[in-house]
Amino acid sequence: MRLFLPNTPLKEIFLYAVFKLGWSEMDVIASAPGKVILVGEHFVVENEPAVALALELRAKVLARERKGEDRYYSRNFNKALTVRQGKIVQGGENIDLFRPLIRIAEIIREKAGEDSNFELIVDSEIPPASGMGSSAAVAVATVAALGKFYSLDLAREEISQIAYEAEKVVHGKPSGIDNTISTYGGAIVFRKSEGFIRLNVKLNDVVIILADSGIPRRTGDMVLKVKKLKEKYSEILDPLYHAAGHLAIETARALQEGDIVKIGELMNMNHGLLSAVGVSNLKLEELVFTARQAGAIGAKITGAGGGGSIVALAYREDSERIVSELEKIASRVFSLDIAEEGVKVHET
Ligand code: MEV
Repeated sequence: MRLFLPNTPLKEIFLYAVFKLGWSEMDVIASAPGKVILVGEHFVVENEPAVALALELRAKVLARERKGEDRYYSRNFNKALTVRQGKIVQGGENIDLFRPLIRIAEIIREKAGEDSNFELIVDSEIPPASGMGSSAAVAVATVAALGKFYSLDLAREEISQIAYEAEKVVHGKPSGIDNTISTYGGAIVFRKSEGFIRLNVKLNDVVIILADSGIPRRTGDMVLKVKKLKEKYSEILDPLYHAAGHLAIETARALQEGDIVKIGELMNMNHGLLSAVGVSNLKLEELVFTARQAGAIGAKITGAGGGGSIVALAYREDSERIVSELEKIASRVFSLDIAEEGVKVHET
């Protein structure tokens, strides 16, 4: 069954119901998880290894046919953009939000050799600009949804690669870790020049706590700031980058061995390295030290820093206390498990 509804708010409500109930037969819905970088962000941009975990927060994207125009709609921002024959006819002020998705559509259409029109609806549980991989998860889910919509049989590697192209539109020169972890799920150790290895993690007794500072920032700007500092002080910072790489490898080992205390110590050390490259601030330090004082095994900035979130590792029995202390000073706090499942196309 395919339903065509006029372009009204009612239609959005209907599509929301489709998301929630997985109802309409021919619509395509795909989802992909957010992520946390456990150690190695920023250093990974310069080809040092880093460790990332997928999180149980997902971005969902619905693709469906639309006559004569493409329409992009974000439920989270309640913003839309309509493109007819290559020209923006509505919502031009929202172009920055949808630029990566437009790039994805270009690539997928070229691959499919087909240019029928679609409507894309994004509905994400991952807070944007918070260091939890929201943009990559939306990109990965969009590639999967549009790929299926155009009957392409995309392998995971291709999905990740196309999402990387979209990430470049927003972040300039990303390492590729965010689209990789969102595509494959689980836990990975990643290196730009070599790809990734999936880790068999033993983290049964612990939870991952994320506390969002509520301070928005652009990943691309933070990456540029760190790059400039690295160029200015390369003799001082080169060894620090190597240390961060060793730290990531040790963390990957500790994750596989279930050495929780070591993981915590390495996270704390990594926080120090991130402060050294200038991505911390008073709020992030407050969140990190509050988590540690409340009993976290380790706590650090996660993602680009300058705002966004901190990540803390905690034994399950301590997590309630840590969460409640963080809730007093953070804009949002999540206590999450690792998401084993990466990108997924849902049967409708
Ligand atoms: C962003 O999630 C992580 C950074 O290392 C940037 C990147 O890897 O592209 C800051």
